[in-house]
Amino acid sequence: MKKVFVVGSLNMDLVIRTPIFPREGETVLGQDFFLNPGGKGANQAVASAKQGAPTYLLGATGNDLFGDQIKEGLTNYGVNSNLLKTKDVPTGVAMIVLHNGDNRIIVSPGANYEYRLEEAKDDLKTHSNPGDIVVLQLEIKREIVEELIPFAKKLGLFVIFNPAPMCSLLDFKVLKDVDLLIMNEWEAKALTKSEKDDLNTGAILEKLVTLGVKDVIITLGAKGGVFVHNGKIAYYDAFKSKVVDTTGAGDSFVGSLAAFLVNDESLQSAIKKASYVAAITVSRKGAQQAIPTKAEVSIYFQEIKEKHAR
Ligand code: RIB
Repeated sequence: MKKVFVVGSLNMDLVIRTPIFPREGETVLGQDFFLNPGGKGANQAVASAKQGAPTYLLGATGNDLFGDQIKEGLTNYGVNSNLLKTKDVPTGVAMIVLHNGDNRIIVSPGANYEYRLEEAKDDLKTHSNPGDIVVLQLEIKREIVEELIPFAKKLGLFVIFNPAPMCSLLDFKVLKDVDLLIMNEWEAKALTKSEKDDLNTGAILEKLVTLGVKDVIITLGAKGGVFVHNGKIAYYDAFKSKVVDTTGAGDSFVGSLAAFLVNDESLQSAIKKASYVAAITVSRKGAQQAIPTKAEVSIYFQEIKEKHAR
C-alpha cells in the first residue's frame, strides 16, 4: 500500500476569539480561549490519516508538555509519529486571533526550525518507496524544503508542495521537481510576484507553467478554485458551509487530497472530495480537531446527494 509522508511543522495553537482586533497599543477584551494542536505539517498529516491513508509525519517537537500533547493527538488521529525528532528547544507555538471565523496567526517556530535536512533525507530514504507521496510546506526552514524537493523526486516520490507561509526568498528552481503545487490566491500572487491587486488567475497559472510547474491548484476560499492538469485549466466550486473557524481549512484540503491521490483517485475526484473535507473543517472550531474523518465525509456526501435528489 502506498504511503503519504508529510515533512513539516507541528505547533500548539493558542487561540483567542475576539469581537474586535486590537489596534497598535490597544488592549481589548476577547471571548473564549482554547488550546489545540496545529502546525501546517501536522494538520496536513492528520487530514491524510483521517481519510485512511497510511501517513508518516517527519518533523520535530521540543521536549515539553506541548510536544507530548501534540504527539498523543497525532497517534489518536492515526498518524505515524515514530519518525518525529525531539529537540532541546520549545515546541512550535502559534498565537491565533479569531475574529468572525477568520484568523490572524503568528508562529514561533521553536523546534520546527531545529529539524535538519539529514534527518529528513535519512527517513525518506529508509521508509519511502517509489510512488509514495511527499507533502511539504514552508513552516520548516526554506533551505531544507529546497533541498528535499529534488531529493524526493530522485527517490521516485510524487511531490506535493504547498508554499505556505509564502517566502519571497524561495528558489524558483525547485518548482520543476514539483508534481502538484497547491496555493491560495495570495500565495500564488506572491510566488509569481504579480503586481496588480486584482487576481488574474489565468495569467498567474501561465506564469507558473513557464517556471516549470506541472499541475497547479489555486484555492479561492468560498469561491472554490482553479487548477491546471495536463496543460488544461479548469475551475471547481466550493461546498457551502457555515464558517466557524477557517484555521487549518487549507491544510485539510492539501492533506486529504494527498490521501485521495495516494489511493489512485483522479485529480478531479480528489479535488472534489478534498473540497468537502475543507467545507466541514471550516464549520468547526480548531485545526486538527475540526478535520473530518472518512466516515464523516461520507455522511456529508450522502446528505448533499439527498438534498439534490429532493
Ligand atoms: O494553517 C493553519 C496553521 O497555521 C495553524 O494550525 C497554525 O499552527 C499555523 O501553523
